[in-house]
Amino acid sequence: MTVRRITLLGATGSIGRSTLDLVERNPEAFEIEALTANRSVTVLAEQARRFGARLAVVADPDCYSDLKEALQGSGIEAAAGADAVAEAARRPSDLVVAAIVGSAGLPPTLAAVERGAAVVLANKEALVCAGPLMVAAVARHGATLLPADSEHNAIFQVFEQEERAAIERIILTASGGPFRTFSREAMADVTPAQAVAHPNWDMGAKISVDSATMMNKGLELIEAHYLFALPEQQIEILVHPQSVIHSLVGYADGSVLAQLGVPDMRTPLAYCLSWPRRMSAPVDRLDLAGLGQLTFESPDEERFPPLRLAREALRTGGAAPAVLNAANEMAVAAFLEGRLGFLDIAAVAESVLAQQVPRAPASVAEVLEVDAQARVAAAETIRQRASA
Ligand SMILES: NC(=O)c1ccc[n+]([C@@H]2O[C@H](COP(=O)([O-])OP(=O)(O)OC[C@H]3O[C@@H](n4cnc5c(N)ncnc54)[C@H](OP(=O)(O)O)[C@@H]3O)[C@@H](O)[C@H]2O)c1
Repeated sequence: MTVRRITLLGATGSIGRSTLDLVERNPEAFEIEALTANRSVTVLAEQARRFGARLAVVADPDCYSDLKEALQGSGIEAAAGADAVAEAARRPSDLVVAAIVGSAGLPPTLAAVERGAAVVLANKEALVCAGPLMVAAVARHGATLLPADSEHNAIFQVFEQEERAAIERIILTASGGPFRTFSREAMADVTPAQAVAHPNWDMGAKISVDSATMMNKGLELIEAHYLFALPEQQIEILVHPQSVIHSLVGYADGSVLAQLGVPDMRTPLAYCLSWPRRMSAPVDRLDLAGLGQLTFESPDEERFPPLRLAREALRTGGAAPAVLNAANEMAVAAFLEGRLGFLDIAAVAESVLAQQVPRAPASVAEVLEVDAQARVAAAETIRQRASA
């Protein structure tokens, strides 16, 4: 493999750190062009020095002087602001890893696509908010989307493009999260600490809460629809608590192909970083005999309404997925800050989705406008529920 230069958006997060772990173990294969974060200046500066980055960017402009100071004498360029993050994505590099959390990742991810880059996509919210625009931009600019989400990466590995007419369905597996066996009554009182304690995966706070509400699987359903160009009816969800089978593709001859592995994001990330080849990843090897059994359950849309909301948003189309995503981001943040109950997260998303579904956005500016309006509506709904 020739050396690949990487621009890593969201370097200080869970996916960012897993990516850098792979880079560090394969110094002959990768170099770092640019690293970005929101406000984690100390970690970002330390990463930039360790990996010899050319550029380090913080999205929050208030952090610029701290970053400059932390990089003093290193020769590493410092920059700040959302536009500077998008500029980082535009710089020439072989791979852009999109690992910012939330719709904040949309402009830089799209900027990378628009320069025809190979984009390792972890930031599912970017595709959820702007799926049709993103898919069109990928085709227009000859970009490549490499799905890093473990489920989509699994499908990508077993999806026979040349046989796509024979693909009947894809099956996204879901761990069910920490409250898989909880009643609605029991879920009413869960705390942020309980919600972020995922049974199988070690992830950032927002996606951990999304896993607990199963909004994560709803967002992944939308993500899969855009990534694999399949209608919602051909995308199934299967609860599989062990998170060993990462997803499956069903073919017309009855064959079902799956990708398996221990739940460690360094496997799908390694696949993306080395695609179309494979590289070694320092993950535990799967021991099926040791596990003994794998189990499966049907998803429960009554206890986990986000599964239904995501399907409804896809059927509604237009800006509905962007509205759902923005309302969810606001509600999850309020829950993590202790301003909202766990069950209120889905209720806020459902209420905002019912209030406003503007027509399909025609540009990224329109997506951001929809996102902003949905956030205003969500803030008001959260305020009302919190004071009820
Ligand atoms: N973690 C996983 O295992 C996993 C698996 C599949 C998919 N994903 C997806 O990958 C993405 C990242 O998840 P994560 O778990 O790595 O999240 P995380 O640990 O919370 O990290 C988020 C990263 O984004 C940066 N960031 C946050 N807000 C930003 C903003 N407004 N502008 C620019 N940068 C911002 C953060 O910087 P600071 O450190 O400065 O806040 C951090 O570098 C999400 O879309 C998630 O759904 C994650």
